[in-house]
Amino acid sequence: MIEDVIDKSPRIETERLVLRKWESRDLEGLVEMNADPKVMEFFPAVMSRPDSERMFERLLLKQEKFGFGTPVVEERATGRFLGLCGLGVPTYPEPLPFDPCVEIGWRLIPDAWGRGVAQEAARIWLRFGFETLQLNEVVSFTSRINWRSEKVMLRLGMLRDASGDFDHPLIEDGHPLKPHVLYRLSKDQFREQEHG
Ligand SMILES: CC(C)(COP(=O)(O)OP(=O)(O)OC[C@H]1O[C@@H](n2cnc3c(N)ncnc32)[C@H](O)[C@@H]1OP(=O)(O)O)[C@@H](O)C(=O)NCCC(=O)NCCS
Repeated sequence: MIEDVIDKSPRIETERLVLRKWESRDLEGLVEMNADPKVMEFFPAVMSRPDSERMFERLLLKQEKFGFGTPVVEERATGRFLGLCGLGVPTYPEPLPFDPCVEIGWRLIPDAWGRGVAQEAARIWLRFGFETLQLNEVVSFTSRINWRSEKVMLRLGMLRDASGDFDHPLIEDGHPLKPHVLYRLSKDQFREQEHG
């Protein structure tokens, strides 16, 4: 099967970024990023080292199982860990209303914000997802109050599916982060945006 020989998470270099698979050396960067209250403003809490270690294990498992697990973004000039951005498969203990799906997500250290890094990396992975992996659709979701993340979806040309907005199954009832917005982008919509 051709599917088996495609590297679903290849190393991609741009003028300023390296997009690549997770490696053991990325754990420290992940721990630091997840402990930053600015980064975690729209998550229930900052993450402890053991929380981040568990997340790291999950990312490695997803990379192994699906071929991608929201890959790493590295600064090309310095090798600095900037965060994660790209395609992933949500694997929460409870299903999401729109499962099965491939999502695109992002989380960067604050030094990397405001430079178009998320947008650049996400656009590359969307193109790879639609053109190489031939995905039919990519979704993205975030808590309704995470305007920074929603702005990335809008800049990428993703379209809000208000009928798909949902309450996140892992967040307690009544919590302001529970209501989530859903954005979708189909292969045809992506092609139209790229080629007019
Ligand atoms: C969500 C997040 C990735 C957005 O980062 P970001 O840098 O704002 O996103 P983009 O890559 O789209 O960058 C756009 C910004 O860079 C600016 N920019 C500068 N140079 C640019 C360039 N070459 N190309 C594009 N934009 C550029 C834009 O003007 C814009 O700034 P503005 O928001 O002040 O208008 C970041 O805030 C983050 O990691 N947050 C914490 C984690 C999180 O909430 N993740 C989402 C969970 S669902």
